[in-house]
Amino acid sequence: MMKKYSILAAGLVSVAVIGTAIAQETENPAIKARTSIMKLYSFNIATLGGMAKGETEYDAEAATRAANNIVAVLQIDQSEMWPAGSDNVSDPSTRALPDIWENFPDVGTKAQALADAAVAMQAAAGQDVDSLKAAMGPLGGACSACHKAYRAPEDK
Ligand code: HEC
Repeated sequence: MMKKYSILAAGLVSVAVIGTAIAQETENPAIKARTSIMKLYSFNIATLGGMAKGETEYDAEAATRAANNIVAVLQIDQSEMWPAGSDNVSDPSTRALPDIWENFPDVGTKAQALADAAVAMQAAAGQDVDSLKAAMGPLGGACSACHKAYRAPEDK
């Protein structure tokens, strides 16, 4: 019995190793940094989204923490994280479309829209679940507006 399990475990390990080898891991520290920022947005917006959808119980303090975190992450200056040549045509490990480098003012506008929505969420999150829900649309919308314009689909 033990043996069977360990063979199975070994099989799973090798599948995991192959999976990692196939996925394109970026070597570019700037891309790593900016996608890490995106992951921090994602983690915190998931907390808020779960409450907005009623999947998790509304918790004013946890919601406020998540909104505060998004606002805090927005304070990070990303100027050095989007160097020329780090678009998905030059480097297949990123999903950043070359259009970003052609449209800096518009990218800035979309980033500002996120900042505005995050500040509104910061004010709303701790009030009650209806306020949180109302602030969720503009916040999620700010993420997807930029992704629609400037991020390649997952399987390009
Ligand atoms: C101003 C534009 C912009 C805004 C606003 C924006 N993103 Fe992104 N996001 C991007 C781009 C471009 C990429 C692709 C980056 C890359 O692959 O180098 C990306 C990638 C991501 C990824 C994938 C990260 C990875 O590990 O590859 C996640 C998750 C993500 N964004 C979440 C969010 C969330 C959540 C928000 C809103 C709170 C948000 N983003 C707001 C432009 C934006």
